[in-house]
Amino acid sequence: MVSLQSFSDSSGIAGHPKGLMVLFFTEMWERFSYYGMRALLMLYMIAPLELGGLGFGKGYAGLVYGIYTFSVYAFSIPGGWIADRYTGYRKAVMVGGLLIALGQGCLALGNESLFYVGLLGLVLGTSFLKTNCSTMVGQLYADNDPRRDAGFSIYYMGINLGALIAPLICGYFAQDPRFLSFLDSIGLSSRSGWAWGFGGAGAAMLLGVLQFYVQQDKLGSVGLKTGIHLDQKEGKDLPALTGDEKSRMWVVGILMFFIMTFFFLFEQAGTTLNLFALENTQNQYFGISFPSSWFQSVNSIWLLMLAPLFSWLWIRLGSKEPSSPIKFAWGLLFVGFGMLLLVLPSQSIALQPGLKVSPNWLIFTYMFHTIGELCLSPVGLSTTTKLAPARYSGIMMGLFFFAIGAGNLLAGLVVPFSEKLAPTTLFFGLFLVTIAMAIVLVILTPRIKKMMAGVR
Ligand code: ALA
Repeated sequence: MVSLQSFSDSSGIAGHPKGLMVLFFTEMWERFSYYGMRALLMLYMIAPLELGGLGFGKGYAGLVYGIYTFSVYAFSIPGGWIADRYTGYRKAVMVGGLLIALGQGCLALGNESLFYVGLLGLVLGTSFLKTNCSTMVGQLYADNDPRRDAGFSIYYMGINLGALIAPLICGYFAQDPRFLSFLDSIGLSSRSGWAWGFGGAGAAMLLGVLQFYVQQDKLGSVGLKTGIHLDQKEGKDLPALTGDEKSRMWVVGILMFFIMTFFFLFEQAGTTLNLFALENTQNQYFGISFPSSWFQSVNSIWLLMLAPLFSWLWIRLGSKEPSSPIKFAWGLLFVGFGMLLLVLPSQSIALQPGLKVSPNWLIFTYMFHTIGELCLSPVGLSTTTKLAPARYSGIMMGLFFFAIGAGNLLAGLVVPFSEKLAPTTLFFGLFLVTIAMAIVLVILTPRIKKMMAGVR
């Protein structure tokens, strides 16, 4: 736990430190780059060579996708560790951003070997940037600053602003027939649409790095030193971990299982819920038709609408604000409710195969998922920064992202099972899993609170 800016700094947005917006925009562009590329990745891999794709089979493409989405989060542990020990957080963010931009550049070149090099660049770059940018947000606040959770809710809006816009823009470059025929008309092949999509994602990251570089003064001294340096008092050796520090680190380890469970359900937006949108949902709203992939943006739309409310709520509740484990339990309940909601239309689909249900089912499922996300994900980022001793803050943040990666992996692995189960059973089963985990968490909460040793 460490904070370096002037703690009383409230000269930024909504009374927060001014460095918050620098990190907000850096992460917004990074997520633009990540989600823009992720929207194209599967489609690019399976598109035939004559259409500029890689011509992979679906099974192999799915494997590459699963390994990539897992690794991009799992490598956060070494990414955080290197910043804690060697580089400090600010340098790690800049190097990470450049690696991401280079990775997107490799993808844009359209060559199969470079494709794998590009993915590696994205994994390494994200592990440096995302982990350490989040750690720096925590360092903007004093240890018991009540604005911390609200600050992370604002930061989380940046994530979702990037996630909302990117698939629309990168998808337009790569897939929209009007843009592709425009490329043909100016003598550039329509097959190069993918390159424009990945190139756009890379350019966005460069903008993010440039913004970070130019605005970094607003961070004060945050991120300049390594975590080790921060914990070394007057040049003395690193102190051994105290009992309280160890027990707080155990809390992060325990919470990881609940974070993983949450993201196991939540990330089905890209797998089983994506298929539900494609196969069982009317893709029309107010008479306007849209591609089923647009449902991927619904979560971010809800998030941008609801995040200010949560940010306000945590501050408004003051001393009545629930502890982090209880917020996590709410997060699990809400993501479970989202799945429960889908049991009803699934029953009708079972009785009438081929039925396409109203889009409202998915739209409101995503609303519940987003409420759950706001109780767990920004709070989880914030809690991790509160619980980690400075010299382990990056690696602990890496652990948090590792849990998200594991959830992503499980969300992919559930697909083969989902083909054998009736949707009603699947969604109800997922609901039961989260209810069970929420109950376990509530039972463990008094013990966890004790282990948090004074941190809320
Ligand atoms: N949706 C969260 C992010 O992209 C996990 O950071």
